[in-house]
Amino acid sequence: GTVVLAYSGGLDTSCILVWLKEQGYDVIAYLANIGQDEDFDAARKKAERLGAKKVFIEDLRAEFVEEFIWPSVQASAIYEDRYLLGTSIARPCIARRQVQIAQKECAQFVSHGATGKGNDQIRFELTCYALYPDVKIIAPWRIPEFYNRFKGRKDLMEYAEKHGIPVPVTPKAPWSMDANLMHISSCCYLDQLGSSLGVSHAPSDLYLMTKNPEQSPNTPDMLEMEFKSGKPIKVSHVTDGTTKDTPLEIFLYLNEVGGKHGVGRIDIVENRFIGMKSRGIYETPGGTILHHAHLDIEAFTMDREVRRIKQGLGIKFSELLYNGFWYSPECEYVRHCIAKSQENVEGKVQLSVFKGNVNILGRESPKSLYNEELVR
Ligand code: ARG
Ligand code: SIN
Repeated sequence: GTVVLAYSGGLDTSCILVWLKEQGYDVIAYLANIGQDEDFDAARKKAERLGAKKVFIEDLRAEFVEEFIWPSVQASAIYEDRYLLGTSIARPCIARRQVQIAQKECAQFVSHGATGKGNDQIRFELTCYALYPDVKIIAPWRIPEFYNRFKGRKDLMEYAEKHGIPVPVTPKAPWSMDANLMHISSCCYLDQLGSSLGVSHAPSDLYLMTKNPEQSPNTPDMLEMEFKSGKPIKVSHVTDGTTKDTPLEIFLYLNEVGGKHGVGRIDIVENRFIGMKSRGIYETPGGTILHHAHLDIEAFTMDREVRRIKQGLGIKFSELLYNGFWYSPECEYVRHCIAKSQENVEGKVQLSVFKGNVNILGRESPKSLYNEELVR
């Protein structure tokens, strides 16, 4: 049979690619460009050299922003009060294209390199089953012949050397990373990093998208965000005049400004779907700016009672996303209700970004429900 493998270019999925071939599958490698820092040409060549029958490299950045990030901003989606769900919402976006490729290529199988203990396996698989119910999923990290053979990184390296898989020259960080244009997450094994305090702090070189606020500029950047139907339609820099008005450009620009000022770092312990707690460290610069700006324009333009109901739906929505149910009847229903609530969420918010903070400075809207006469 033919299998479409979600290939990252890294050691694990390279070994999986070769292992699947060893099991007799024709392997199609699929690499999603979702804004991670990656040499896609090199990854293509590598997959071809490892014997992939075809290689698909797909630029999903614009659809990720418009179809996944924007609805999450509208919902004020946040998991357990802190996590903006940057990995959770990328998975259905990646898996959707994967099954499209599988269907186009008449592949009955899809495969991924997520571990058997995490959320990601569930998000991939629920998306695949929802969109391609007959698909068969090969999850090597849950197959005894695979995980008994690859008990640690050493086994992967040995296998790689034996099979001509280029092994990374730089030693891998002892935590699991996931990067896309919305965030970088680092998780797992972080509690082994000791410190003199007895509490393990994240090492400073873990952060890649954001400057340490202690070393960030001493002057703020002032931005004006414009929203329509609860979605960002424009961002302008109030003093230097930079303006962006396409979804992807808006988001990338907010990442740049937020990153420069150290916005959006969190270090949390969260509840995984399968029933364990895990530590996660996240950097979500642009997403954090948007979260605050959107909350502000929403409060200004939305009916009080609608807002209360919508807030509850936002929590429900966040849980559904975290747990992998983007493509489910209940999530579709909630998305629909949230979109309805956003019809009048429009206007401009001015804010400054400074030393890790987003400071709202003021707002204006043709749909304002604020009545100065009444307040006076
Ligand atoms: N804990 C976060 C989540 O479940 C991040 C997971 C990151 N994934 C990874 N393979 N490192 O959404
Ligand atoms: C993984 O196990 O693949 C990473 C962590 C997670 O998915 O929650």
